[in-house]
Amino acid sequence: FEDGTGYWEVWAPIRPKKGPALGAVRMEVSLQAAASLGNAVWKIMAVAGLATITCLILVLSYFLRRTIQNDRKLRLTENENVNLSAQLRDAERQLVMKEKLAVMGQLTASFAHEIGTPLNAMGGHLDLLRGDLVKEGAKESWMRRLDILRDQLQKIENIVKGFLQSTAKPVTQFQLLDLNKVMDKTLQIVSPRLDAMGVRLDKSLDNRLGPVRAVPLDVEQVLLNLLNNSLDSLQSKRRAMPAHASRLEVFSRYRREGLAEWVELGVLDTGTGIPRKDLERVFEPFYTTKAVGEGTGLGLTICREILEKYQGRLEIESKEGAWTKVTLRMPYGANA
Ligand SMILES: Nc1ncnc2c1ncn2[C@@H]1O[C@H](COP(=O)(O)OP(=O)(O)OP(=O)(O)O)[C@@H](O)[C@H]1O
Ligand SMILES: [Mg+2]
Repeated sequence: FEDGTGYWEVWAPIRPKKGPALGAVRMEVSLQAAASLGNAVWKIMAVAGLATITCLILVLSYFLRRTIQNDRKLRLTENENVNLSAQLRDAERQLVMKEKLAVMGQLTASFAHEIGTPLNAMGGHLDLLRGDLVKEGAKESWMRRLDILRDQLQKIENIVKGFLQSTAKPVTQFQLLDLNKVMDKTLQIVSPRLDAMGVRLDKSLDNRLGPVRAVPLDVEQVLLNLLNNSLDSLQSKRRAMPAHASRLEVFSRYRREGLAEWVELGVLDTGTGIPRKDLERVFEPFYTTKAVGEGTGLGLTICREILEKYQGRLEIESKEGAWTKVTLRMPYGANA
């Protein structure tokens, strides 16, 4: 003590099995006071008392340690529970999606079958018409439009055929693709609509893109869906705000991080945008904000499924009332 007299100090640390001590119980006994005790009996009693108190302190510190550890375990278990319920909710959502897709699969099987016959007839008649027009010496621009029609019809036929064959074996016409060319070709398909709506188109295509191994129809189908979504959105904004300047931006980018290399293709429009609360839902099958007959709500679901085949991803960002940007990522060397 400060007055020079000695004291006896008892420390009992509160220590978890691993790691540093959490705290300690401490007791001081004045030696002066102990020495001043008159006879030996008192001294023995004092020592015995002290020993009892020491034991009590040790027991107390043991129980304190247990309580603190139990409290920690409880908090860990609570966190685990929260994680598990989030995982459960996710699994439930995916299950509902898969069920919807299964129903869709059955419906489309008969749909695809029934659609095949009229498609064949249309293709045949378009070829005949082309022959007639060539004989009549029709304008070059008419023939170009006819070729686009034939090309598009062929695509529908391929999709239908691909679907009907998909139960047997997947269509595998993989090619090394220049994605910039695929983007240009897809833009050509929507160009009549772009022109009719007076949309300003900005293109920034990265010429460092190397070829990507993919089925051309897959990439075209994804891009076509994205471009049509953007044009739909620009159109509906134009209806509400006729003076609004419609702008569409398409881009491609070569990206590299460490050993990973991938391509980004994107479509950005200055249309209606998507409210934050609906952003997660746009990939759900049958989710649409379009009128009956104008949208099925399957476009983005199909795009995502196609990209999964290439270990690719589709990401959507938006600001309600202002813009929407959809980015598609395809890794090089994915063994699709
Ligand atoms: N560029 C975009 N701008 C604004 N909203 C969009 C855009 N792209 C998608 N959406 C929203 O996401 C919904 C789902 O899109 P998705 O392409 O899956 O279906 P859809 O376009 O409604 O119908 P479908 O493509 O089958 O004809 C759309 O109805 C729309 O509300
Ligand atoms: Mg769509």
